Amino acid sequence: MKKILRYILLFILFAFVVIQFINRPEKISEPVTDNDIILSLNIDDEIAAMLKTSCYDCHSDQPRYPWYSNVAPLSWWIGDHIEHGRDELNFSLWGTYTARRRDHKLEEVVELVEKREMPLPNYLPMHKDAELSDEQIEKLRNWANAERANIAAETEN
Ligand code: HEC
Repeated sequence: MKKILRYILLFILFAFVVIQFINRPEKISEPVTDNDIILSLNIDDEIAAMLKTSCYDCHSDQPRYPWYSNVAPLSWWIGDHIEHGRDELNFSLWGTYTARRRDHKLEEVVELVEKREMPLPNYLPMHKDAELSDEQIEKLRNWANAERANIAAETEN
């Protein structure tokens, strides 16, 4: 019995080592451009800091990669979040979005942040600083709504 257990443990260890060499997700790191939401909208520091700390790891071209993002299978899981997060919403490409798309994304930002679905709950235990307080959520909502009004005014003309 003990012997079998030892083989199983050895096998798990072996498998863990092997998976380190397969399918390493590519790390995203692009220079910041004028299309970045913070630069293109001239966002105030408080909102900018919230977006950077709580959202940019999955919704920008400048995610910060923690050390454990080098370790499979975590690396796959993290790579997946970043890939899907950026597909849906990339704050680095804000300036390239149409007015309609920006408006829709801001609506969803408010909705998901209020429901505490964003930032992804499973991201928070390792990123305590990304958790938004009620007060921060209110500020983010006010900002997003003001920006939606700007977009509406812009497109009326
Ligand atoms: C740990 C990664 C992660 C973080 C951090 C994160 N998101 Fe997301 N976000 C995702 C993923 C993955 C998706 C796409 C899949 C889904 O909807 O669950 C997504 C989807 C979204 C969508 C939906 C877009 C659409 O059109 O459907 C919005 C809006 C959004 N996130 C806003 C935010 C905001 C705002 C923050 C910061 C307060 C944030 N997210 C932080 C991973 C993340």
